[in-house]
Amino acid sequence: MRAVRCERQGPPEEMKLVELPDPVAGPGEAVVRLHFSGLNHRDVWIRQGLYARIQLPAVLGSDGSGIVESVGPGVDAGLVGKRAVIIPCEKWGPDPAVQGKDFLILGMPRQGTMAEKIAVPASMIVELPQQISFEDAAALPVAGLTAYRALTTRGGLRPGEHVLVTGIGGGVATLAMLFAKAMGAQVSVTSGSDEKLVKARELGAVAAANYKKPGWEKEIVAQAKKPPSLIIDGAGGDGLNNLIGASAPAARIVLYGATRMSPGKLDMAKIFFKQVDIRGTTMGTDDEFRGMIRLVAEHRIRPVIEKIFPLSQTVEAVRLLEESGQMGKILLDCRA
Ligand SMILES: NC(=O)c1ccc[n+]([C@@H]2O[C@H](COP(=O)([O-])OP(=O)(O)OC[C@H]3O[C@@H](n4cnc5c(N)ncnc54)[C@H](OP(=O)(O)O)[C@@H]3O)[C@@H](O)[C@H]2O)c1
Repeated sequence: MRAVRCERQGPPEEMKLVELPDPVAGPGEAVVRLHFSGLNHRDVWIRQGLYARIQLPAVLGSDGSGIVESVGPGVDAGLVGKRAVIIPCEKWGPDPAVQGKDFLILGMPRQGTMAEKIAVPASMIVELPQQISFEDAAALPVAGLTAYRALTTRGGLRPGEHVLVTGIGGGVATLAMLFAKAMGAQVSVTSGSDEKLVKARELGAVAAANYKKPGWEKEIVAQAKKPPSLIIDGAGGDGLNNLIGASAPAARIVLYGATRMSPGKLDMAKIFFKQVDIRGTTMGTDDEFRGMIRLVAEHRIRPVIEKIFPLSQTVEAVRLLEESGQMGKILLDCRA
């Protein structure tokens, strides 16, 4: 089969199209013939050497949709031929509050989805509801699961709340906006791109401001006519102080990433005086994944997909992600 392998740390050109043996379903496993794979920032961090326990060369890619082609011993043969989306992680562990030490994300060390086929434990396969296309399904796994847990389990979102989602061009961020709206929230957004702010308004954002412009926090509060009581952020950096400043008293700020690394300083007085909760979140459990898929199917949510590249143009696709050129998700067509 054809697959894209990250050979070593370096520029995007290290993502090479290679020929590998077809995977075979072992005991308890199933082979999925992939239709689409989705890119995530994780794929970039790994190639740049900014990730834990890197093992290269490796076929990366954590998001995948396709059709179950074969199953191994001990797996119900009725799974063959089913439309499938793959849970992007395994071994969460017994405590729904936090993942255990054996928790793994698909795509290093296990072979990822930037390939024509993949073998995974059958327990990672979720049958795709008819309402969700293969394209949309491949946009959901990592970003959708992260957004869903951030808003629900960690964020405790209540209908009617004002939610601020930062960096709306991001894969997690666009889904967080769509999910929060479906759950009855009013959603405000930030972006470094005025064009993406316009798109977010078209998708239903009630307020939108450019985080590169000083005073954007006041702008959001003025447009929405109230401060956000829940903030979902994946950027971190010194901007965390602006988020604390923008938030309503007793707000929850849920952090799922640190694209801008750690803050150089932190306004401690504002955190305790405003009684703000700062909460971390990572991916989610298998039950949360199923809950996210149900939400998407019930509300007919359509993920925002910037562009679909053929597998053979993965380098170009990865460049677009690295330049933050996208609004939403970038996909690879594993059949092209
Ligand atoms: N904990 C987890 O389980 C988990 C899961 C998924 C992702 N993550 C992490 O979360 C982050 C985002 O992931 P992703 O896949 O959604 O990334 P992505 O699609 O590459 O999006 C990154 C976005 O970050 C935004 N951004 C950049 N600088 C910003 C700033 N100063 N303030 C606000 N937003 C800023 C940009 O939005 P604009 O273009 O709108 O400016 C950009 O589009 C990454 O660091 C990733 O590693 C963590």
